[in-house]
Amino acid sequence: MKALQAVRGMNDVLPQDAALWEFFEDSVRDWLRAYGYRNIRMPLVEPTALFVRSIGEATDIVEKEMYTFQDSLNNESLTLRPEGTASCVRAAIEHSLLHQGAQRLWYGGAMFRHERPQKGRYRQFHQIGVEAFGLPGPDIDAEHLIMTARLWRLLGLSGIRLELNSLADSAARAAHRQRLIAFFEQHRDQLDGDAQRRLHSNPLRILDSKNPHMQPLIEAAPQLNEHMDDAARAHFHGVCATLDRAGVAYSINPRLVRGLDYYNYTVFEWVTDALGAQGTVCAGGRYDGLFEQLGGKPAPGCGFAMGVERLVALLQVQASPASQHAAEAQQPDVYVLHQGDAAAMEAARAAEELRDAQLRVVLHCGGGSFKSQMKRADASGARFAVILGEEELVRKEVSVKPLRAQGVQTSVPLKEAIELIRG
Ligand code: HAM
Repeated sequence: MKALQAVRGMNDVLPQDAALWEFFEDSVRDWLRAYGYRNIRMPLVEPTALFVRSIGEATDIVEKEMYTFQDSLNNESLTLRPEGTASCVRAAIEHSLLHQGAQRLWYGGAMFRHERPQKGRYRQFHQIGVEAFGLPGPDIDAEHLIMTARLWRLLGLSGIRLELNSLADSAARAAHRQRLIAFFEQHRDQLDGDAQRRLHSNPLRILDSKNPHMQPLIEAAPQLNEHMDDAARAHFHGVCATLDRAGVAYSINPRLVRGLDYYNYTVFEWVTDALGAQGTVCAGGRYDGLFEQLGGKPAPGCGFAMGVERLVALLQVQASPASQHAAEAQQPDVYVLHQGDAAAMEAARAAEELRDAQLRVVLHCGGGSFKSQMKRADASGARFAVILGEEELVRKEVSVKPLRAQGVQTSVPLKEAIELIRG
């Protein structure tokens, strides 16, 4: 029978790679606690309407990338979440979280988009998302950027640059949209198929085109900042000034638009050149209209999400000392070998005693010759082998053999072995 395989674009994370994932997740948890963010966990499946209403009908995600299915028992359309912001806002509205004041929240987990898979772009991928609800000022936008800069330092990552823009308010965007449509209509002959299709549905996305033939036209297109009012300008200035003071470098990219429709004011992306075409490792911004759009009382919101696969790939490429140290720290301290039935039982007991002393212990299971057990011990990455044979049983001792450093094998009572291993 032909063996089954994972769905295209949905990956296994194998144990040799999972160590780096765990290092990333552990670092992120500590980092989020340092800023007072609390964990929230939302379902993987939501009503389709949630994403249509929030992300926007004319976006790539909603038009062609959602895993949508009909739940025939309840006759409702459901969708595997393509992102977390919409669910997080829905949960905040549903459980009246803002009654308890402003909220700093984070979530993590799998997201699903039916994109064409390539390096760094998958159909099931993982995000760590961070959202702040109920805070209208530029201070919180800046906090998100300052804290992200800190995370890169904690992870030992370098060369991730920050691109920043303001999408102003909806009135400015509507005025800009009309001028963009008029401008691109005048130059219809220079638009590619994608751009022609988007001309009336989502003209802003034309600015995001990577087609080199359209770049001169895009350069000449009307800019949103010509329509920005004083409040939007002041907010953006507040974000930039706070970043300047905190020493977080950024570049303003007036062409930065996002693939989701809910943004206003600040938007940003953290980008690296080290990963090829899919170099955006973290992205987000402000979405002050989203609560109302989803049926809640108006409330400001802003946040961002990191792509875990991309950041783990960057950790791999840059092999930061912090991540190497973390991978080593995952290895066991001790591998316990034994020979003979009585020794096997004593080994199981002794392994527990070693674990009582906070050591990480792998107990050999499955029998085999001493030589084959020793091979396993070596391959486990453990620092020490603890050996129990018939002789050791008679002496009420264990043999301790260093596996990673020079040193002789010694036979001592288990208590002494523990001292020796702890160093
Ligand atoms: P997004 O830009 O769609 O924003 O995704 C955020 C990050 O998720 C991207 O920068 C990228 O690192 C990662 N990502 C997205 N799609 C894929 C994929 N197919 N394969 C691998 N990684 C991917 C959002 O999702 C917003 N909810 C962010 C946000 C939170 N805005 C405000 N709050």
